[in-house]
Amino acid sequence: MAEQNLTKLAYQTLQQGKSLAGLAHKGLSTKLMEFFAPEAIPQISKVDREILIELRKSMSALEKVDWDEAEKGLYPKSQLFDAPWLEWLARYPLVWLDMPSTWTRRRKRQIRDLPKDVKEDSYPDYYLQNFHHQTDGYLSDYSAELYDIQVEILFNGTADSMRRRIISPLKEGLKNLKHKKYSEMKILDVATGTGRTLQQLRSAFESVELLGIDLSGAYLKRASKYLNNREGEMVQLIKGNAEKMPFEINSIQGISCVFLFHELPKKARINVINECYRILEPGGILVLADSIQASDSPEFIPVMENFRKFFHEPYYLDYVKDNINEKLENAGFTNVKARSHFMTKVWSAQKPL
Ligand SMILES: C[S@@+](CC[C@H](N)C(=O)[O-])C[C@H]1O[C@@H](n2cnc3c(N)ncnc32)[C@H](O)[C@@H]1O
Repeated sequence: MAEQNLTKLAYQTLQQGKSLAGLAHKGLSTKLMEFFAPEAIPQISKVDREILIELRKSMSALEKVDWDEAEKGLYPKSQLFDAPWLEWLARYPLVWLDMPSTWTRRRKRQIRDLPKDVKEDSYPDYYLQNFHHQTDGYLSDYSAELYDIQVEILFNGTADSMRRRIISPLKEGLKNLKHKKYSEMKILDVATGTGRTLQQLRSAFESVELLGIDLSGAYLKRASKYLNNREGEMVQLIKGNAEKMPFEINSIQGISCVFLFHELPKKARINVINECYRILEPGGILVLADSIQASDSPEFIPVMENFRKFFHEPYYLDYVKDNINEKLENAGFTNVKARSHFMTKVWSAQKPL
């Protein structure tokens, strides 16, 4: 019991530390931007104290669910502490060094400032942008090296807790496939990025075969390095477009997809949903996690608005108003459920048996 309390305390302290570090970083970087590049600062709305209190409450609720689900055995508690801390620490100065180029892009509204050697015809047009004003978009090793730290800062250290919310609905959904053992199943993580969700899945679904797909070769390289340095089953990484995936019809039992949909235009969102439906085995489960939406979290609309104005997120406004439930049902999915956790909304949808 004492050991358990100590672990819980360590987890809470870690989350608080990450939250404070994220806030301190954002405060200081905004001050620097006000001083060195005031023209790069967008007009954002003031967020009322009540909203900040609600945000804090919802963050604590996320922390509680994250701990409770570990305690229930949905994933090992070690998962709550799993991050390449030393690597992140070593890279953190790069985040500061990268800032002036981000300000310049923001100020000059440069949204297609990509590496010269990118073969543009290999990617959909919507992808060839500097999402979040990120240096090189998703298309360089440098961008892949900074991504995880930038996301941690953006979400005040809650990014991994938000990603972990897919595990419970995935586990629940896979129970539909009664005739199959885990060792006969495949889970695919769509738009896997640097592999953090895959690592979480690996520790939660020990004998399931895991695959990840992403359009960015650089991010996949990073994922491969990260995953290879950790214990667990081998994970297969594939470079490809989620709108048209190189998998057979009915060949996958579970699909996860985290933080992709807000970066897709509506048509691509529909294509990805249809493609997931095609490759899932009947009875299989799709779990999506992305930003909360305007209709079910109206109190946080000012926060969503500020996010869109501050970062280059060209499809976010359309996403927050999009009816994803309807799109899932139109594709043929049933048993569509959605639940919000802090800034994340998680959908689960089953392909009928
Ligand atoms: C915001 S990141 C999310 C990455 C990861 N899921 C995570 O939790 O950090 C979006 C990812 O989607 C990928 N992506 C964007 N459009 C894609 C598409 N059409 N097909 C495959 N991957 C795509 C990007 O390369 C990037 O890695």
